[in-house]
Amino acid sequence: MARVYVTREIPGAAVAMLRKAGHSVDVYPGDRPVPRATLLRKVKGVNAILSLLTDRIDDKVLAAAGPELKIVANYAVGYDNLDLEALKKRGVKAANTPGVLNDAVAEHTFALLLAAAKRIPESDRFVRAGKYAGWKPKLLLGSLLEGKTLGIIGVGRIGTGVVHRASCMGMDILYHDIRRDRALERRYKAKFATKASLLKRSDFVSLHVPLLKSTYHLIGAKELRNMKRTAILVNTARGPVVDEKALVAALRKKVIAGAALDVFEDEPRLAPGLARLENAILTPHTASAAIETREEMSRLAADAILKALAGKRPKNLIPGT
Ligand code: GLV
Ligand code: GLV
Repeated sequence: MARVYVTREIPGAAVAMLRKAGHSVDVYPGDRPVPRATLLRKVKGVNAILSLLTDRIDDKVLAAAGPELKIVANYAVGYDNLDLEALKKRGVKAANTPGVLNDAVAEHTFALLLAAAKRIPESDRFVRAGKYAGWKPKLLLGSLLEGKTLGIIGVGRIGTGVVHRASCMGMDILYHDIRRDRALERRYKAKFATKASLLKRSDFVSLHVPLLKSTYHLIGAKELRNMKRTAILVNTARGPVVDEKALVAALRKKVIAGAALDVFEDEPRLAPGLARLENAILTPHTASAAIETREEMSRLAADAILKALAGKRPKNLIPGT
């Protein structure tokens, strides 16, 4: 029997799977991030941690856990909250939940894209405010997606899911990535572009890169100036990929037309002024929040822990750990 610490109540079968396998599972109760001090106390002597993207798992946590810790399974596809160097140094494996959330995030990205193009949240506010006084030819004019250019930065699993949907909507696709994807180019007539060229030519820009040193503030004041004045920026990746202060300034001055964000630089805090902007659509990091998806993520995280505790290699191991 091993000991597992789960840093929050999560949907799905994870806890039941772990208990059924005979392990002792301690779950931090409630729906808020585990306080740091509690985390450091609770992980003492555990063999596995099921962490959330709101938990910073660094060397201090690993040291507090001690040498019996075998694996950290992160309930997310992104793992910028894990200190991979520290994990490697201590020989602790790490896993994430890739694959199962591509559709959820790609769909949410498209929901944001459509919501921005069709000005849905603004229209909803308008009607509820009692301002709807009858059909008008110029009321709340939006734009078509058909025939427009979508620029996608990062064509991993999620980015590719967005390309697939964009292609069904009749959009032209530009992409930028650290490597070319010839299959994507053939299948979707997607064209590779440098970042600068993509920004200049796209009507919509959507970000699907992980947060790394090299992707921090990938979109800042200079990049926003380089975009079309009619362009809409969508971010369902990680907040710090966009310089949020610069984005607020650009939205205020109509340097670009709009933005739709599911992630924020210092979430849950928002950059000053962001929430007051009519041309920003904001969702609270819920791109993967489809019930089916969250259940799959649960199974995948538990499965990684069960494999690692049995001395086997989890299939969703983070490379290098
Ligand atoms: C969500 O942001 C995730 O990385 O799974
Ligand atoms: C719009 O409602 C139309 O009938 O054109």
